Amino acid sequence: MAEGLGPSGDVTTERLVRPGSDDVERAAEAALRPRRFDEFVGQVVVRDQLSLVLQAALGRGKAPDHVLLSGPPGLGKTTLAMIIAAELGTPMRVTSGPAIQHAGDLAAVLSSLEEGEVLFLDEIHRLARPAAELLYVAMEDFRVDVVVGKGAGASAIPLALPPFTVVGATTRAGLLPAPLRDRFGFTGHLDFYSVAELERVLVRSAGLLHVELFPDAGYEIASRSRGTPRIANRLLRRVRDWAQVRGDGRLDLVAANAALTVYEVDALGLDRLDRSVLTALCVRFAGGPVGLTTLAVAVGEEPETVETVAEPFLVREGLVGRTPRGRVAMPAAWEHLGLTPPVTGPTLFG
Ligand SMILES: Nc1ncnc2c1ncn2[C@@H]1O[C@H](COP(=O)(O)OP(=O)(O)O)[C@@H](O)[C@H]1O
Ligand SMILES: [Mg+2]
Repeated sequence: MAEGLGPSGDVTTERLVRPGSDDVERAAEAALRPRRFDEFVGQVVVRDQLSLVLQAALGRGKAPDHVLLSGPPGLGKTTLAMIIAAELGTPMRVTSGPAIQHAGDLAAVLSSLEEGEVLFLDEIHRLARPAAELLYVAMEDFRVDVVVGKGAGASAIPLALPPFTVVGATTRAGLLPAPLRDRFGFTGHLDFYSVAELERVLVRSAGLLHVELFPDAGYEIASRSRGTPRIANRLLRRVRDWAQVRGDGRLDLVAANAALTVYEVDALGLDRLDRSVLTALCVRFAGGPVGLTTLAVAVGEEPETVETVAEPFLVREGLVGRTPRGRVAMPAAWEHLGLTPPVTGPTLFG
């Protein structure tokens, strides 16, 4: 069992993906998911490197190296995994770290893989240690040891596997055991998207949803989407709701601003969680430094949620700093909340 994961494993999982997806949203997302590289907006470097890896493998007629995709939620890891399988023209098996309770579960999945298949392992950093150990042997030697019997009489029967490709996704690459990380021949780190890239995502999505999106509304939504396509698509759906119910159906700037106000997405795109982290940091902890766990308790969230969901963007925007002694509020944080930073040390005016 992975560290910090209760027997019901799902509780934390659910919270981790919370800014992601309930069932309704997952279906909505599936409809908007790019299926090939040429529909995938941005991430030029990773896309380019990856397509080279795949083309070379296709040319050799061999399964490509294992691929690790890392980055904050909603940036396109699952999408890229599906694109990899599609470009290779192979089926994709999907499982995730928290879904694998025992090494035996993973052995069963691995031993049923067909030659060249893609195995997508989401949240791979949550794989329990015995399963991770089994996995890296399988990735390197294409073999699983199937344990037969129990206790002293147990024996391991090696079972050869056909070549396959693991695509791992993680929001926390740093948590992967080094031997597992080393088995990935290619690692792609996904970064936040620019406003211009998100505008392209939105134009594409609006087309698929058959709604008319005005350029200034597209720009407004994009700039409040925290650099994240999943959020951009979600806000687009909320603006569409507003336009349908309270507007004239067109997604113009009025609809965009009104909907974003209703859903409490501020000018920087910060949502309730982001703002409560900032407020706790500035007000309750007087700007910090404060440890991650303490901060998470103060906002009633899992440390992992704060660390993977809220923090990367807050750090990138220069609102929060990470120091060896904990998280600190940067001057921009006070400013954004409309607060005055506490005065430390002697000032000009005594
Ligand atoms: N580069 C991209 N271009 C267009 N849409 C994207 C892109 N990346 C992500 N998306 C959209 O965002 C949604 C979330 O992406 P997903 O791959 O599920 O993120 P992750 O697995 O990293 O959390 C997808 O449904 C897709 O519609
Ligand atoms: Mg995903």
